[in-house]
Amino acid sequence: MRCRICEAALAPFVSFGRMPIANGFLTEADFATEPLFELAAARCEACGMVQLLEQPAPEAMFHENYAFFTSTSRSMAQHFGRLAEGVMSGYVEGDRPFVVEIGCNDGVMLERLARAGVRHLGVEPAANVAAVAQSRGVQVLVAFFDEALAHGLLKDHGPADAVVATNVMCHVGALHPFVAGIKTLLKPRGVLVFEDPYLGDIVEKTAYDQIYDEHAFYFSVVPLSRMFAQHGLEIVNVEPQAVHGGSMRYVVAHKGARRVSPSVAAHRGREADLGLDRPATYEAFRHRVEQSRDALVVLLEQARGQGRRVVGYGATSKSTTVTNYCAITPRLVEYISDTTPIKQGKYSPGAHIPVRPYEDFKASYPDYALLFAWNHAEEIMANEQAYRAVGGQWIVYVPKVGVLA
Ligand code: TMP
Ligand code: ZN
Repeated sequence: MRCRICEAALAPFVSFGRMPIANGFLTEADFATEPLFELAAARCEACGMVQLLEQPAPEAMFHENYAFFTSTSRSMAQHFGRLAEGVMSGYVEGDRPFVVEIGCNDGVMLERLARAGVRHLGVEPAANVAAVAQSRGVQVLVAFFDEALAHGLLKDHGPADAVVATNVMCHVGALHPFVAGIKTLLKPRGVLVFEDPYLGDIVEKTAYDQIYDEHAFYFSVVPLSRMFAQHGLEIVNVEPQAVHGGSMRYVVAHKGARRVSPSVAAHRGREADLGLDRPATYEAFRHRVEQSRDALVVLLEQARGQGRRVVGYGATSKSTTVTNYCAITPRLVEYISDTTPIKQGKYSPGAHIPVRPYEDFKASYPDYALLFAWNHAEEIMANEQAYRAVGGQWIVYVPKVGVLA
């Protein structure tokens, strides 16, 4: 496999072995035919883009039973509400403005625009989540976005003031045609606003669980700037976001069309300070990942050895990397509690830990809850004061393995 951006050689720096599809929650009948692929992350020696070595076909990941619904978390719904307000106040100009959201999921962002009467269109490949968006009054096209689709949209709707894509671009292996399509769609002062997990946070927090099949890329400002320059685009603003365990919001415009904020240079500096341009940084990351795995297994074995019950909290996509890489089986973690109906009654990918409704957690508190949904820690800790009050404890592994005091 060569770099998806520049075709140069890739230098793998961390391998997780055979892994299932992160959102591939399954029933017992499907255990024998569960698809597996080799999960490893690599850095391009030429353009610096960090990416997966191998990625399953998109159809295996984003299908009519896609298990990820954005609105399942209150803080995420609030985040997307603020994003919608920001797009409407900052980038929507003139009469009959038009906003396209690629990967609109259940419509949590576009719903705000629909209510404000802003012309919009969501493009979403997963039919089940798209149906939820439609039921909220959001205009949705069930499709994968690509260059051909962009030309069709331009013809049918005219150019866009803003194209929004949150947690989408990092999923798209064929990024060049995707970006070319966005460029086609944008008005002269139009912007692409996108958010994805930020490589700087992944490295700083040893958040190796961000590495899974859906995330083809682990973006940072420097390699992204090079990639956009090839399309006559430039990053004009960057803004760190707390969601998904550390994300970055990038605003991209036609080159020269908008003033470039000092935040862009500031983040280039932060990336140099973090050593994101040096192979040694990734060697050190791999070492910390291995240490993290070993420490988590020791902690879980100890708890079980003392006859304690351990339950996983949140069957997140990210947890699939952790459970499989650390070989966490139902012997160590009894079940995973999750509020998403489509995941309940199924088994976690690969590790086959049962996923049960949150009511089961409430009905009989375990001794330890393993916080798989660490990116929602604040919201969860606020909700789970009763669990803490009866002596329930939290096991965490990002940024460090331990039991919360
Ligand atoms: P995510 O980290 O990929 O957004 O997934 C979060 C998962 O965690 C989702 O399946 C819902 C679940 N969840 C809970 O079960 N309880 C909670 O309090 C929160 C915030 C999430
Ligand atoms: Zn490259």
